[in-house]
Amino acid sequence: MGNLSKRWFATIYGPIDRWQRRSTAAIRRDLVGDLQGDILDVGCGPGTNFEHYRPDAHVTAVDYNEHMLPMARKTLLGLREPHAVIEVRQADAMALPFRDASFDAYVSTLVLCSVPDLERAVEEAWRVLAPGGALRLFEHVRSEVPWKARVQSALNPAWGLVADGCHLDRLTHHAFIERGFEVTEQRRVRMRAEPLPLVVLKARKPEQRSA
Ligand SMILES: C[S@@+](CC[C@H](N)C(=O)[O-])C[C@H]1O[C@@H](n2cnc3c(N)ncnc32)[C@H](O)[C@@H]1O
Repeated sequence: MGNLSKRWFATIYGPIDRWQRRSTAAIRRDLVGDLQGDILDVGCGPGTNFEHYRPDAHVTAVDYNEHMLPMARKTLLGLREPHAVIEVRQADAMALPFRDASFDAYVSTLVLCSVPDLERAVEEAWRVLAPGGALRLFEHVRSEVPWKARVQSALNPAWGLVADGCHLDRLTHHAFIERGFEVTEQRRVRMRAEPLPLVVLKARKPEQRSA
């Protein structure tokens, strides 16, 4: 994605974030509020998850778009004490600059619809998570209603151009389950503020390393 497109997406995402922050708060609190230890928040955007982490957590929040990072830092500065220790930095979900098994949890909220190579991002999540580490996803996905899914696929090319390469019809959570993450909770959620079907997935990397 070019610099101009990244700047444009960061500019339009600010108001979108303010609009949906409140309506998604309960989902986010449930998704990340119990996580402990070293947490990776991938594609943190304006830092929408930050207020929901436990104060004793250590969060590394990354986004590949440098224009999102000032918004995340502003959110961080505005957090009420006590709050998690949060480090904001630039990184790509498909090439994470972290050692193997360096995190206790991997969080992605409304991000992996946009990565060009989902399998690579899944592989990176697997690599940086410690055995037994938690995976938490909140993503919009393909509809279970066939005609709606067809509409999503038809809109994909145009939508991707204006929305950071977003795929409307991706089954992101399936890619993680196929990789071998063990599901502890999987549910579809509906929200007035979001017309697309949404999935919450809580899973775990198995304790035993498998190839
Ligand atoms: C729709 S926003 C969601 C932001 C935030 N996670 C939330 O829940 O509101 C998607 C974010 O993912 C980031 N992103 C997209 N592709 C990425 C990638 N390959 N690596 C890291 N971040 C990425 C975008 O820059 C954007 O900030």
